[in-house]
Amino acid sequence: MKIAIDGTAASGKGTLARSLAKKLGFDYLDTGLLYRSVALNAKKQGITDFELDVEKDISSNTNMSKLNRIASLLKLPLIDEPDLREQEISLLAAKIANLPKVRNILLEKQRLFANQPPSKMGVVLDGRDIGTVIIPEANFKFFIDAKPEIRAKRRYAELKKLNKAVSEQSILDDINKRDTSDWTRQTAPLKRLPNAFFIDSTSLNADEVLQIALNYING
Ligand code: DC
Repeated sequence: MKIAIDGTAASGKGTLARSLAKKLGFDYLDTGLLYRSVALNAKKQGITDFELDVEKDISSNTNMSKLNRIASLLKLPLIDEPDLREQEISLLAAKIANLPKVRNILLEKQRLFANQPPSKMGVVLDGRDIGTVIIPEANFKFFIDAKPEIRAKRRYAELKKLNKAVSEQSILDDINKRDTSDWTRQTAPLKRLPNAFFIDSTSLNADEVLQIALNYING
């Protein structure tokens, strides 16, 4: 059994995916972690920004071959460390997510995990292109969204708990930037498929979202 969950940044898709996997005894893959890990490793190798002219980069920029190599070397499962959640890494990951070659390398790893989950029971994957590209054959597809202001408020509350010094406005600005990048990139953009069950989590808490998803799965 394969469950695909796509949606906007900080919409609650990760929370839903994790709790669905726990409830059903399935394996869970947060695919955003792959892009974040490439970004963090890139930063460690001194790549903090790069030219986004994809054609030019592929032929001339050594950063591209470094990024491809970093992506190739990633091994699942990945550990969700706090460094991966830094704002700088979020923005670099969003930029890296535009690179077709990197996406292709990560696609293979995600499909392998979906087809051979460690538990052999089933998988829940969450990201931006799960139902459209990674596992279009998924048994159930979800699309989660919420108003940007609400997503920023929730992310701000999470970061405040971790004593991170960020303003709600800067989080909202980042969310808007990442939305634009996710919806408009050329390769595997975020798309709301007609066959994906849509949940607007603007006025729902995590338990309510989980219950709605379980009701849908149980018919
Ligand atoms: O879900 P997240 O915010 O942790 O994702 C980090 C970045 O990776 C985000 O900018 C979009 C990108 N991403 C993607 O392009 N495709 C995925 N399947 C998952 C994430």
